[in-house]
Amino acid sequence: MFLRLLFCLFYPMNLHRASFYFHNFQKLARLWLKDREATAVIKQVRADKLTYLEPAALIDLHTRVTQVEQQGLSGIMIEAGCALGGSALVIAAGKQPDRPLYLYDAFEMIPPPSTADGADAQQRFDVIASGQATGIKGGTYYGYRANLLAQVQHTFTHYGFETDEQHIHFVKGFYEDTLAVNQPVALAHIDCDWHDSVMTCLQRIEPHLVSGGVLIIDDYKDWSGCRTAVDTYFANRQDEFVFEMKSRLHIVRK
Ligand SMILES: C[S@@+](CC[C@H](N)C(=O)[O-])C[C@H]1O[C@@H](n2cnc3c(N)ncnc32)[C@H](O)[C@@H]1O
Repeated sequence: MFLRLLFCLFYPMNLHRASFYFHNFQKLARLWLKDREATAVIKQVRADKLTYLEPAALIDLHTRVTQVEQQGLSGIMIEAGCALGGSALVIAAGKQPDRPLYLYDAFEMIPPPSTADGADAQQRFDVIASGQATGIKGGTYYGYRANLLAQVQHTFTHYGFETDEQHIHFVKGFYEDTLAVNQPVALAHIDCDWHDSVMTCLQRIEPHLVSGGVLIIDDYKDWSGCRTAVDTYFANRQDEFVFEMKSRLHIVRK
């Protein structure tokens, strides 16, 4: 990270990238002063190519998780969109062992976007469906891996998590079939790209969100369908929530 930052600084055309790296470097350095363990997990999941999220987004996610714990909010934590487990490991590292964490994912190919998604999603899905998608930093795209769920479970063990003891649950399948929440929710990380997936998550999770609880929307700035789903779902409900644009959109129930 530091070397990349230096490199960009010497090439003025890369100023935008330089400021991106500087922001991430600064946030990592601040976290390192406060919480070395969290810094180590964030650096490790990135080194192991387990996540699409940049350090700043992982730090914001971890900070939210620890805030929820410090505030003593009741409720489970959820991630919808686990893929290789990178951001889920960061949530797991920040939560108390007895707080349940549910990790929902197809753990196979992502379902196709719908007509509510824009051309960006359709084009991306065409590449995925053609078998030409590359994974994080050139690795195998997670959707093409056999036994993805078993791989992710193995990764959790490798990172030192006892998933049963630490109340970490994996739920395989499409959210439309699997996501049935019937208890209070303290935090949900919604990272599933397409309109219908995000809408299903909002419809099934938000009614259970406790006061002070937070929905973190990973793709609001990145995928048109996600943006449409969030804007549609929260239209006329602005008074009930605080919308904080950090490295990702954090929506906190008042
Ligand atoms: C961008 S990846 C998640 C990345 C991960 N959070 C990380 O740390 O980088 C999005 C995931 O959402 C899953 N997904 C999207 N829509 C889904 C749906 N309707 N049901 C189940 N899984 C879905 C995909 O299969 C994929 O694994």
